[in-house]
Amino acid sequence: MKKLVVRIEKLDHFGRGIAKVNNIPIFVENSLIGEEVEILITKEKKNYMEGVVIDYIKKSPLRVKSNCPYYDKCGGCDLLHLSYIEQLKYKENKVKEIIKKFSGLECINNIVSSKQFNYRNKITLQVKNGIGYFQKKSNDIINIDNCLLVDNKINEIINKLKKIDVSDVKKIVVRVTNLESMVVFYGKINLKIDLDVDTIIINDKVFKGNGYIREEINDFKFIISPTSFFQVNNIGMINIYNKVLEYVDGGNVLDLYCGTGTIGIYVSKKANKVLGIELNKEAIKDALINKKLNNINNIDFISGDVGTILSENNFKADIIIVDPPRAGLDNKSIDNIIKIKPKKIVYVSCDPVTLARDLNILKEKYDVIEITPFDMFGNTYHVECVCLLKLR
Ligand SMILES: C[S@@+](CC[C@H](N)C(=O)[O-])C[C@H]1O[C@@H](n2cnc3c(N)ncnc32)[C@H](O)[C@@H]1O
Repeated sequence: MKKLVVRIEKLDHFGRGIAKVNNIPIFVENSLIGEEVEILITKEKKNYMEGVVIDYIKKSPLRVKSNCPYYDKCGGCDLLHLSYIEQLKYKENKVKEIIKKFSGLECINNIVSSKQFNYRNKITLQVKNGIGYFQKKSNDIINIDNCLLVDNKINEIINKLKKIDVSDVKKIVVRVTNLESMVVFYGKINLKIDLDVDTIIINDKVFKGNGYIREEINDFKFIISPTSFFQVNNIGMINIYNKVLEYVDGGNVLDLYCGTGTIGIYVSKKANKVLGIELNKEAIKDALINKKLNNINNIDFISGDVGTILSENNFKADIIIVDPPRAGLDNKSIDNIIKIKPKKIVYVSCDPVTLARDLNILKEKYDVIEITPFDMFGNTYHVECVCLLKLR
């Protein structure tokens, strides 16, 4: 295979270094701007190449030594070789670049930081000759004993899982909260020892506990069922929710893609009425329980597809909060949001590219006031944003 010596000119939006040879970009993982590296070309296409570093000839002063023994192979992290402060600068710039390039906007605030390590409250472990994560670009797994990203309670559970027979299990999901822990096994398992967790689920059957776990954040109480979405980083979640709360100033609120109702419940005290819409029926069941747990009377929930529910009803709303998956808003949802004509739209996004695409449509009728990036997934290239739009 071809070897080359190249100089890294830029980082791409996935945290990879970009070098150029004859004007063809070469994407190189674990490389930083200014570094001179010897690489092995692993993919050669007409318009681009990919390579892996075999030798660092000149290292960047920004490079830090990663404490993770799995970093070279594991597909979980992308930026562990960069200090946290530099990761934050990279993410802020990435949002600025993407938003400017795809929607021409420049109103980006400084990024809000979170916690670099031990922040994840949920992980999915793959099982195949061991328990761990997928290797980079592979279906092979890397055996993990201790992951730097997860809450240490999860690392303790991983070590207990290593002591049991999981030979007929495909996947294990571990979730912890400030109060409880849950393990979900997908596959066959004959559990003989107590894992010392609050809830165990095997496929869709409850084996131990309530079948859900409880969480308490800033005096709010929530329950979380196994398939319900819940933000994976509590500090990042509070930062984002506080930003959304800043924008809510009375009136009727639609909380679209509401999951277990957390954002709606968080902002309900500043709203007249809140209605949450969410596809996952299990999450809506949780949301209805969460409403009661927090003694909130001005919130309701509907289960279904956002686009369909908005087109079949004649909702009025002063503020619409949207928190869609990475794919962003579909055309039907955007059309209906524009028809409802809320005074404000608060867009919580986990992908700046789809955010920019959607802002391009919304900005015909709405002024984009500000976009704040939030770090939620330290050591990865991912970045969240909260954007405020006001009806012109
Ligand atoms: C990023 S999560 C946000 C959840 C919630 N706002 C929170 O902060 O926990 C996106 C949610 O959108 C839901 N979802 C995905 N597609 C949907 C659709 N077409 N209609 C309604 N909800 C959808 C998912 O089930 C998930 O709960």
